[in-house]
Amino acid sequence: MKIAVLPGDGIGTEIVEQAVRVLKALDLPFEMETALVGGAAYDAHGHPLPEATLKLAKEADAVLFGAVGDWKYDTLDRPLRPEQAILGLRKNLGLFANFRPAICYEQLVGASSLKPELVAGLDILIIRELTGDIYFGQPRGRRVSPDGHFPGAEEAFDTMRYTRPEIERIARVAFEAARKRNKRVTSVDKANVLETFQLWKDVVTEIGKEYPDVELDHMYVDNAAMQLVKAPKKFDVVVTGNMFGDILSDAAAMLTGSIGMLPSASLNSSNQGLYEPSHGSAPDIAGKGVANPLATILSAAMMLRFSLNQAAAADRIEAAVQKVLAQGLRTPDIHSEGTTKVGTREMGDAVLKALG
Ligand code: IPM
Ligand code: MG
Repeated sequence: MKIAVLPGDGIGTEIVEQAVRVLKALDLPFEMETALVGGAAYDAHGHPLPEATLKLAKEADAVLFGAVGDWKYDTLDRPLRPEQAILGLRKNLGLFANFRPAICYEQLVGASSLKPELVAGLDILIIRELTGDIYFGQPRGRRVSPDGHFPGAEEAFDTMRYTRPEIERIARVAFEAARKRNKRVTSVDKANVLETFQLWKDVVTEIGKEYPDVELDHMYVDNAAMQLVKAPKKFDVVVTGNMFGDILSDAAAMLTGSIGMLPSASLNSSNQGLYEPSHGSAPDIAGKGVANPLATILSAAMMLRFSLNQAAAADRIEAAVQKVLAQGLRTPDIHSEGTTKVGTREMGDAVLKALG
């Protein structure tokens, strides 16, 4: 088994380092190979996703990814910006199914911006379609506006589109996931306005008939945003498109107290996957040794479970994380009175020790 390790930019390198230490301590038969990605790859090779990095990722069974991006790259041409690396990996590896669990750990209930009773015990799973929608739809670009409110004016445009098979496969992923949980799927759309999401709703409804044991409901995205902060525990599995999933998953992450705790997995149809924390590169705290490595360590656990068939090892990591939280260890993002503030490396040390 081979793991491609792509730390990326900002806090990416610090947090991935801790996850790699944890993986090594498991003493399992896999090989890890590291490569540059994002801004770091642009600086060294002039491209955020160099050929060699893409090749390594394609050949690996799984990719452990840190984070990419820094404000200093914001003025580059779009194809050279760090974000293109993650989009390119998603597209090239066909990673269409993005799992973003939002779990509120008992010990962190107080860190949420919502009242404890709204989030205590929260365990929802956002399944975001990751290779279609307005993110990748063609045509897109800039031009002189041919019509509309200001003909002749400078204009930019993107295209929202989904094909039936793309919706079918992500719907199946959601229903299968719900079967292993509380058997409820909420499909989030904007069918009241958009053709794309009328098709989405129709297709999800059809696929839902194959899963009579799973309860399906539909929600417009604006209402879903409201319900997520009003009564988040009412959700079980949420399935939605690329753009809505991007936005709703950040909102869901904050319900749990810190986005620094949340892992994610992006899978293709052969269970090859890319695993990354749900948060970004946080250039403002990079290099300070204060970033929370737990989301990345938990992403490594997801990787063991989903792509490497090592569920027992995944359980071990998750139990170790629970243990360090119970010991009261907290990085600054989840620190509160009465707990012990630790840095990135100390948190990694504690997880290693708790692995037993
Ligand atoms: C995410 C990120 C990415 C996205 C960016 C970095 C391209 O926000 O994974 O949610 O928009 O998908
Ligand atoms: Mg996002």
